[in-house]
Amino acid sequence: MTPTSKFQLTNLSTGKTSELEAYSPTVGSDVLNIAPLQKDLGLFTYDPGFMSTAACESKITYIDGDRGILLYRGYPIEQLAEKSSFLEVSYLLIYGELPTKLQLDAFQNSIMRHTMINESLLRFYNGFHYDAHPMAQVSAVIASMAAFYHDSLDIHNARHREIFAHRIIAKIPTIAAAAYKHILGQPFIYPKNDLPYCANLLNMFFAVPCEQYRLEPIAVQALDLLLILHADHEQNASTSTVRLAGSTGTNPYAAISAGVAALWGPAHGGANEAVLSMLEEIGTVDNIPKFLARVKDKQDNTRLMGFGHRVYKNFDPRAKIIREMCHRVLSELGRADNPLLELALKLEEIALHDEYFVSRKLYPNVDFYSGIIYSALNIPRYMFTVMFAIARTAGWVAHWQEMIGDPAMKIGRPRQLYTGPTERTYVDIGKR
Ligand code: CMC
Repeated sequence: MTPTSKFQLTNLSTGKTSELEAYSPTVGSDVLNIAPLQKDLGLFTYDPGFMSTAACESKITYIDGDRGILLYRGYPIEQLAEKSSFLEVSYLLIYGELPTKLQLDAFQNSIMRHTMINESLLRFYNGFHYDAHPMAQVSAVIASMAAFYHDSLDIHNARHREIFAHRIIAKIPTIAAAAYKHILGQPFIYPKNDLPYCANLLNMFFAVPCEQYRLEPIAVQALDLLLILHADHEQNASTSTVRLAGSTGTNPYAAISAGVAALWGPAHGGANEAVLSMLEEIGTVDNIPKFLARVKDKQDNTRLMGFGHRVYKNFDPRAKIIREMCHRVLSELGRADNPLLELALKLEEIALHDEYFVSRKLYPNVDFYSGIIYSALNIPRYMFTVMFAIARTAGWVAHWQEMIGDPAMKIGRPRQLYTGPTERTYVDIGKR
């Protein structure tokens, strides 16, 4: 990379200097290369939460948090949401370009031929209690896949990486559906390869052997949109987890399983589940002021779930698209008078005019409305984060591929600001 500007940092106590180069991205803020700091000045940088740190170079997704812009491989999310499909977006994220018709057909065909999971893997689910959270089941089953697909575990072989990519994108809906059926106590429904990706997913979730399942076109369309919007979001916590785990050279199933675990938290993918719990807790519009008072009280740990984002400080473009789809889904399914939507709209309106949220630039994020759509599709709350994981698998795979394919790849190994005791002598137990 050619530097576009240079900075000099001087230690005023020792007079030692370090010359640092900055690089310009194709779009966005310049990035300072601080790698020479340790060699030149014996310094590490300290940046909790990575507020100012670019952890890698990437060509996949761009976010402008101030202007509410999200681009996958340069294409605006609004255009992809309107015109594309989840599988086409997955192709775009992984291969870098929109596919031709032939390429897309071949990709879809490959995905559809990898939807089944090994029967032994299916038996894993019986080891879980019926009320095991599906995220625990999904992350465990994904990690276990490394024990089954030995033919494609050489991370230095591009064809192996590609087979893995197709396999995991194809199988994640099957893995999720098996977890759901296990919780329900219903028989597992095998994938149907003549159905498109999202239709197949809904069929595996809701079909039962004794009755035909009727797919609602709006449900398929809404699900496809939600998967597109959640497919990638540059170096978020779960993607960074996949990269960090993957940087050790571990197998890709282990890395994706780590990503699922990181996504589970309520500050990240678990927020969609938390939003619905919050709306139910608030109950009625009258209770909103009391709830917001708790959110603003620093002694109380309550947050307005589905609000705020580390990067978006103006609006989340995905939230705008989801809000519209939410209205469409509810009206087409004849549930326009949904009390949770009414409550969410009122809560959003009040919060957007409240000084606390305005001054902190807190706006609805992608998850403020996604749970309402999932509920309308009869997907239960405990499955929401799993739905997010299905979508984000495409992004995780793209980032893992990009990292492994980069000849400059190094194991991720951050340093620390140590504030513990200095060396001391062990004290025998009787003398403590
Ligand atoms: N409700 C109330 N206050 C909030 C919220 C919220 N949702 N989000 C941030 N704040 C306050 C926070 O208390 C702090 O106030 P102060 O300056 O007085 O201490 C200030 O805003 C900055 O917050 P922060 O925690 O430093 O911001 P962050 O960038 O580290 O956190 C976040 C981002 C998404 C974790 C946070 O906004 C949050 O917890 N939101 C709720 C959970 C949520 O909806 N998560 C989904 C994110 S989008 C899906 C995804 O990408 O996973």
